[in-house]
Amino acid sequence: MIKLHDLYFKPFISAKEIDSAVQTMADDIAADLGDEVPVFIGILNGSFMLVSDFVKKYPKPCEVTFIKLASYEGVKSTEDIQRLIGLTQDLTGRTVVILEDIIDSGNTLEEVHRIFKNENVKQLLIATLFYKPEAYDKDFKLHYVGMEIPNKFIVGYGLDYNGLGRDLPAVYQLKTTQHMTNIVLFGPPGAGKGTQANFLKEKYDLIHISTGDVFRFNIKNETALGMLAKSFMDKGELVPDQVTIDMLNKEVEKNADAKGFIFDGFPRTNAQAKALDELMEDKDSQINAMVALEVDDEVLVERLLERGKTSGRTDDSDENIIRNRIKQYYTKTAILKDYYADQNKYFGVDGVGSIEDITVRLSTVLDKL
Ligand code: IMP
Ligand code: MG
Repeated sequence: MIKLHDLYFKPFISAKEIDSAVQTMADDIAADLGDEVPVFIGILNGSFMLVSDFVKKYPKPCEVTFIKLASYEGVKSTEDIQRLIGLTQDLTGRTVVILEDIIDSGNTLEEVHRIFKNENVKQLLIATLFYKPEAYDKDFKLHYVGMEIPNKFIVGYGLDYNGLGRDLPAVYQLKTTQHMTNIVLFGPPGAGKGTQANFLKEKYDLIHISTGDVFRFNIKNETALGMLAKSFMDKGELVPDQVTIDMLNKEVEKNADAKGFIFDGFPRTNAQAKALDELMEDKDSQINAMVALEVDDEVLVERLLERGKTSGRTDDSDENIIRNRIKQYYTKTAILKDYYADQNKYFGVDGVGSIEDITVRLSTVLDKL
């Protein structure tokens, strides 16, 4: 992953793949042009790297020149194309091949056609290394295309983001989500998870996703997924992981600009942990840590009994039920502890002390992620 200015990019097309696409374009064009000596015209700035590599691979004599146009601002194409350096030679009767690094909306290409309208060239051919079919809204024929790519912003191999990235030999794609810190929060009943989650979410600007809340929300609002989940629950069956994952996916997508997420109540099994990893990877992100509040059983029992006196929760007033819930927690989460520990992502935090003390301990972990 690389960072240019404020944005993160991930590897997308390797230097080797680019090299072979350029080679193919050079061979195809050479085969089609026969004995004709073409004039290759690079569109500056972006095409400088392509033109240099291309002409070295072009197996026959050729001429090379450049024109300089500018249309891009930041990560968006604009319609206002500026001619910074125009044609400087007579091209009457010549075969001209435009070499573009990338064709996006086609606005630049339209300007190129305008420039050549009265030049009386023999033929005007368009070759582009990258082409975004979903963004292209013109009718000009593209004679040679190195690679079709999705409509996402890329940098490298001549292409820049506000001036940076042109020098990179490979191509990188803008990450769908920017840098996020995602944690899975764990803790036995009574460990103070809720209290700490509220604090962490404020301090680090994270979105707290409690699976229980997400379920209740979807069922209450009768969303398609909520109804689906309910149909299993009504039959007394477990809701399939995929349904839960789909709900979480919706929550993540609703908050695509978030600095990260706190997952609470999920995953509970190895399969769910894997599914969550896949979900995050799909968003160009990852789970950074499982953070578990560690509290001694006796302290938990004491806290829960104390809470039971005022909360009225029946499961908080019976010591046997409490001990059983704690036991179950350890049996169930042991696998997950291993899952994350194997990736060096398990962080146990001492959950005994004042709320502030525990918060400081948690922050120490999060600050390092
Ligand atoms: P178009 O005029 O929209 O076809 O865009 C053409 C020009 O926009 C290219 O020559 C590039 O300079 C720039 N451009 C288009 N897409 C990208 C991209 O993904 N990354 C960087 N520059 C781009
Ligand atoms: Mg360009």
